[in-house]
Amino acid sequence: MQTVCNIEQLRTVVNAWRQQGLRVGFVPTMGNLHAGHISLIEEAHKHADKIVASIFVNPMQFGANEDIGNYPRTLSDDQEKLVAANCDLLFTPTPEIIYPKGLENQTFVEVPDVSVGYCGESRPGHFRGVATVVCKLFNLVQPDIACFGLKDYQQIQVIKTMVEDLSMPIDVIAVETKREASGLAMSSRNNYLNDAEKATAVNLSQTMRWLASQLASHNDYDKLLQQARAKIDASGMKTDYIHIAHARTLEPATQNDKSLVILAAAHCGKARLIDNLQVELD
Ligand code: PAF
Repeated sequence: MQTVCNIEQLRTVVNAWRQQGLRVGFVPTMGNLHAGHISLIEEAHKHADKIVASIFVNPMQFGANEDIGNYPRTLSDDQEKLVAANCDLLFTPTPEIIYPKGLENQTFVEVPDVSVGYCGESRPGHFRGVATVVCKLFNLVQPDIACFGLKDYQQIQVIKTMVEDLSMPIDVIAVETKREASGLAMSSRNNYLNDAEKATAVNLSQTMRWLASQLASHNDYDKLLQQARAKIDASGMKTDYIHIAHARTLEPATQNDKSLVILAAAHCGKARLIDNLQVELD
C-alpha cells in the first residue's frame, strides 16, 4: 500500500488506474481504525478494483468546545491494518492541503433538512464540516463508490442527499454497524471509556432494542421516549437525545410511518456516544 499526502501524488496514482479502466472505491476516515472501518474496506472491495482510504481529522467538523487536539492519532497502526485489508492507497493530507485558505475563507457545503436536529442540533456546524470535507475528498479521489458506516446514520443521510442534490456520479454504500459482543457500537470514541464505563455504555444499545420492541404495540411514542431516556440516565449515562424518526427523511416519526430509525446520543464518562437502530413496522 502506498501512502501519499499531497494532491498531485493522489491524482497521479488514481488517474493511472482510471486509464486502465479500473473501478475506484473510497473509504474516508479520521483514523484510529477499528474493525468497523476495516469492514468498510472489505465492502469496498466487493464493488471496486482499487481501494483508496483517507485519514484526515477534519477541523471543520469539530465545534469550538470539542477537543480536536485530543482526537486519537495512530497512523502506523492504521497503516498496518489497511495493508492487512489489502487497501491500495492511503491519502493522509494535512489541514493546510485541504484548507489552504483557512477554514474561514473556505467554500462550504450545507445540506438542508437532514442536517437539522439530532447531532446537527447538539453539534452546530458539524454536518457542514462533514459535507464540505467529503465533497472535497470526493472531488480529489473521484471514486465510483464510497463506503460509510451506518453507526453515523444521520451522516450517511447527509452525504446521500449531497450526492443526489449535486449530481455526483458516486454510489454511496451504507455498511452495517460493527458491535462488540456486548452490543456496544464500535467507535474511536470508545477509547475514552474505562472498563466500568464500557459496561455502562452497553445500556445505550440495550435501551434502543427495548424501545424497538415496544414500537409495534404502543402508539404513544413520546411516553416511550421518556421511559427510554430515564433508562439511559438511570444507567449512569446522560442522555443527549433519543428520538424516533422516519428512516430516510429523519423527520420525527408519525403513526403512519413504517420505516423508522431510533437515533440516540449519550454522554458516558468523557465520551459522547451515538448509536441507532432501524425498525420496520408491518
Ligand atoms: O465518519 C467519519 O469518520 C468522518 O465524519 C468522515 C466521513 C471521514 C468525514 O470527516
